[in-house]
Amino acid sequence: MTTRAYLTSAIFAATALTAPSLASAVEINVYTTREPALIAPLLEAYTKATGTKVNTVFLKDGLAERVASEGASSPADILMAVDAGNLVDLAEKGVTQPIESSVLNGAVPEQLRDGKGHWFGLSMRGRVLYAAKDLDLASFNYEDLADPKYKGKVCIRAGQHPYNTALFADYIAHHGAEETEKWLTGVKANLARKAAGGDRDVAKDILGGICDIGIANTYYVGLMKAGKGGEEQVKWADAIKVVLPTFKDGGTQVNVSGAAVAKHSPNKAEAVKFLEYLVSDDAQKIYAEANYEYPVKAGAGVDPIIASFGELKIDNKTLAEIVSHRKQASELVDKVGFDN
Ligand SMILES: [Fe+2]
Repeated sequence: MTTRAYLTSAIFAATALTAPSLASAVEINVYTTREPALIAPLLEAYTKATGTKVNTVFLKDGLAERVASEGASSPADILMAVDAGNLVDLAEKGVTQPIESSVLNGAVPEQLRDGKGHWFGLSMRGRVLYAAKDLDLASFNYEDLADPKYKGKVCIRAGQHPYNTALFADYIAHHGAEETEKWLTGVKANLARKAAGGDRDVAKDILGGICDIGIANTYYVGLMKAGKGGEEQVKWADAIKVVLPTFKDGGTQVNVSGAAVAKHSPNKAEAVKFLEYLVSDDAQKIYAEANYEYPVKAGAGVDPIIASFGELKIDNKTLAEIVSHRKQASELVDKVGFDN
């Protein structure tokens, strides 16, 4: 650097430090298992509004291990993950810290956040019924999946997939393990094909006449209908309708993407501000719509494809309770030979 350039930047830096109207030089670091592209528009909007730069570190796997290994010198401020089980794991591995924020507590329904403030759901998806379009079916209970009248008509991905173990864990929360085992045996007996493939294959196989109904996540309908997976998938989506099922004594099973403040966050105050921004009406709409999800905050906008399913009534069991039954759900899947 020339002397002149050095002086200019020194003067600029001094001005920046003393002029409160200028953007602050604060940066926060977000470690995320979510594709950064999904949150990029929000980060840009946040930086524009506050001057806080948001850096992202994308980790497909091993988020908790990475933060734990960095220890007290970890630069991570925010940890973002999909699936309540992964958020619970972060808290259990001791890499998060509790946050007391009336903004977050007011925006995020109680079922969708940790009771001690270690993590907060930010967007949600329902695990719902895809049904053949012409099927005469306006409502559905998860319990009905084991009804013998659906013998040979049900499609679903592997029971051991986390999407399904979460649903089965919710079933345990409602009915206990014994009833859940009976139900799983009944669902298994109703399968039209091996429990395998992905959620979109449920729509594909309904179009192909292999099954009449199946269980899958809401956002795939948005992705398929909007043509994000190609022309073929638009046809799959057009072959089905979505029915929002409920438990007989509850609502629709949902899972979340969410975030936590890292235990050793170097900028805790900024990290909390950032999370509070993510539950503002505008941010919720952008964040949820990026992947055809539901905002967690009541009244924030939702994509028209998703809105067309009708009003989502979130199940009354907390995600924390559901996650606590995960292991047992997985054991039952093996016990009844669900994936064989
Ligand atoms: Fe998915």
